[in-house]
Amino acid sequence: MFEHEKLVFLLVIVRLRGINCAMEERVIAGVETRIEEYPHSVFLLVKCNAVWMCGASILNQEILLTAGHCVTSCQVDTDETHIITGYVGHEDLRKVTITRTAKDLVVHENYNDYSLENDVAIVMTESIPLSDKSKRVILHCDWSFPNTPIAYVAGWGIYDESTPNKGSKILMSVKQSVKTPEICEVIGYLTPGMFCAGSTRAEDPRAARGDSGSALVYREFHQIGIVSFKVKSYPALMVYTNVTYYYQWIQTKSDQLYCKSTETTSNQQ
Ligand SMILES: *[C@@H]1O[C@H](CO)[C@@H](O)[C@H](O)[C@H]1NC(C)=O
Repeated sequence: MFEHEKLVFLLVIVRLRGINCAMEERVIAGVETRIEEYPHSVFLLVKCNAVWMCGASILNQEILLTAGHCVTSCQVDTDETHIITGYVGHEDLRKVTITRTAKDLVVHENYNDYSLENDVAIVMTESIPLSDKSKRVILHCDWSFPNTPIAYVAGWGIYDESTPNKGSKILMSVKQSVKTPEICEVIGYLTPGMFCAGSTRAEDPRAARGDSGSALVYREFHQIGIVSFKVKSYPALMVYTNVTYYYQWIQTKSDQLYCKSTETTSNQQ
């Protein structure tokens, strides 16, 4: 297959001084943006064996959508040292007041850590209040979009807890044009649940490491993709999980998580 670069960023690595090249991996030529423009955006801090960060989107008040590789090593309900926290409702991470801890999650059962096939997961949290700063995305069961739409992805890129004045604390967005499968072939073999977007020119704007799991949206709130990976030779060409392709899976698993949580609640009563 191909050598891929998962976009999670290990905070542990950033903490070491002198690895400044890592900082260049932030959204390049992206623009700082307000949460109202991407109110579905969630910053995920994942503490499972190591600490890393990802993006996610709000599917409904209790369910977040993210990439499988962001949470695959976490079983939140079995091990209390594994904690996933979602930050919601502000473009500036230092000012976020709404944080939610994950209660449960499901990673696609055929997720492949090597090929990144089926790179999709859902995370259940305590209820998130909705407002103009925290809104749901809409998923579509058919691809009722242009074949190669222009879409946008927003993420926080690199975030380093230990140096609060450095790194991106502000949500950044970048425009991505979805490419035809023929163009995506430069990356290697993509499975039917993947597509690519961005640019084959390395110097063009791109999503950052740590933007993994973030939503690619068409017309503000129609989510079409989840940031999955890129290959080193095309740093501005991003591979996305096709959300429409996994629509049924997302729907079914969300229902299951929801039912499971209400059963647990009623058992306790
Ligand atoms: C995404 O998946 C849907 C459903 O399988 C498909 O119709 C659509 O063409 C795919 N989109 C891309 C850009 O590959």
